[in-house]
Amino acid sequence: MKKTILCIGAGYVGGPTMAVIADRCPDYKVIVVDKNEARIAAWKSENLPIYEPGLDDVVKRARGRNLFFSTDVAAGIYEADIIFVSVNTPTKMFGAGAGKAADLQYWEKTARDIIENSDRGKIVVEKSTLPVRTAEAMQRILDSNPKNLHFEVLSNPEFMAEGTAVDDLQNPDRVLIGAMETPSGQKALQDLVDIYSHWVPREKIKTANVWSSELTKLVSNAMLAQRISSVNSISALCEKTDANILEVSDAMGMDKRIGSRFLRASVGFGGSCFKKDILNLVYLCEHYGLPEVASYWEQVVLMNDYQEARFVEKIIRNMFNTVAGKRIALFGFAFKADTGDTRESPAIYVSQLLLEERAHLAIFDPKALDNARVDLKDEQGHIEYIDDPYEAAKGAHAIAVLTEWKEFAAYDYQKLFDLMEKPAFIFDGRNILDHQKLHGIGFNVFPIGQKALTHL
Ligand code: UDX
Ligand code: UDX
Repeated sequence: MKKTILCIGAGYVGGPTMAVIADRCPDYKVIVVDKNEARIAAWKSENLPIYEPGLDDVVKRARGRNLFFSTDVAAGIYEADIIFVSVNTPTKMFGAGAGKAADLQYWEKTARDIIENSDRGKIVVEKSTLPVRTAEAMQRILDSNPKNLHFEVLSNPEFMAEGTAVDDLQNPDRVLIGAMETPSGQKALQDLVDIYSHWVPREKIKTANVWSSELTKLVSNAMLAQRISSVNSISALCEKTDANILEVSDAMGMDKRIGSRFLRASVGFGGSCFKKDILNLVYLCEHYGLPEVASYWEQVVLMNDYQEARFVEKIIRNMFNTVAGKRIALFGFAFKADTGDTRESPAIYVSQLLLEERAHLAIFDPKALDNARVDLKDEQGHIEYIDDPYEAAKGAHAIAVLTEWKEFAAYDYQKLFDLMEKPAFIFDGRNILDHQKLHGIGFNVFPIGQKALTHL
């Protein structure tokens, strides 16, 4: 083997990224470590800890050949030439910057683990999303090692999205690598370029300085989320004016300068990254004395909160101003389709608001029920987790669609209607159902940013 690559953090980012690197670079040994024993056991088993289309095949091809999973962080560090750090960097919930800044405690601890377990210099790659200039702090900690070893810190943010992780990793729009503008920085950068060159065309491997690279990740997510919040804000106006958000998005997206992606109005965006990264950006701007810039970006998050709350208000208002004691079937709990991940899912907030109104929730999701149980474990009220949509809808007054799972559109809505209380409501928080047809069956249909179709 040419070199040994280590990844610390076997999560949604670290796991798939390393599996694809190992698959595409059989001449490198790839070790993935995590302090979470259950997670590592799952990576070694037939039942991977995360669901991603195509991931099973990639892992099966490389596991045991040049891809290894372990909880022995120290041994992994000792053996590695290149260390990717992909531990989580959640929003800090205490002290200065609480609610906005990134909590870097795992990050710093990882740096100290690296020093303690190294007997030679190594390349350390930031894979986690971090505030701009984290590499500087990382470099300082690593430079403080008593053995006088030289560590080189690179930034290589991950742009894969969940549900399409394997494809995004195999065919990325671009790979971004940031390095210090020093000879040793440039040499380390080349080592990383060599790895990605195994399968990514050279012109798609962008190199930059470390700070640009760190910032690009935050801003890419902020820009994507901003598009959704912009469209969601207009969905509210559409509902007042009988304009149709689908028509607006469609026609707008045909303008090549705007483009059609990420213009789908919804109950709101979720996921582990968007909110955390924007708040992180907001905090950075405040820190650097740019309050106007900070509040500009914060509005993207506030608009998302508004959209989620607005969705629940719509449910309550239209169900005769009360949902107390009424069964509401939630179709989807994951933050998006094709994943079991529920982090920051709009479904969490929607559930909490409905439970406050004493609604009875029947939650159905094809992949995310286990996570839903964990998310709502502290909530008071009546909640059922049901792995069959028809069972969930039985006796329900309403169905609320919260995730854009394709299969939801293929269900037998006549059968669902027959199982429900009347009048039966559908609140389509993802605009994925055939609303005319549902109306024809007898449902009162409330899409996002489109005229409601009712019988009342
Ligand atoms: C994480 C970050 O949240 C994100 O900002 C970054 O872009 C990539 O890494 P994700 O992989 O989705 O994203 O997080 P998660 O699934 O929580 O995985 C992190 C893993 O690191 C966990 O399995 C956790 O057990 C592990 N970890 C964390 C360690 O092994 N050691 C630590 O000290 C802390
Ligand atoms: C995102 C970024 O896309 C990815 O590049 C980054 O590395 C991590 O964060 P992810 O969180 O996996 O990826 O999902 P993404 O596909 O971006 O969707 C985020 C949320 O926005 C989901 O809740 C999704 O349902 C919602 N969304 C997306 C909309 O509401 N409307 C859209 O038009 C697109």
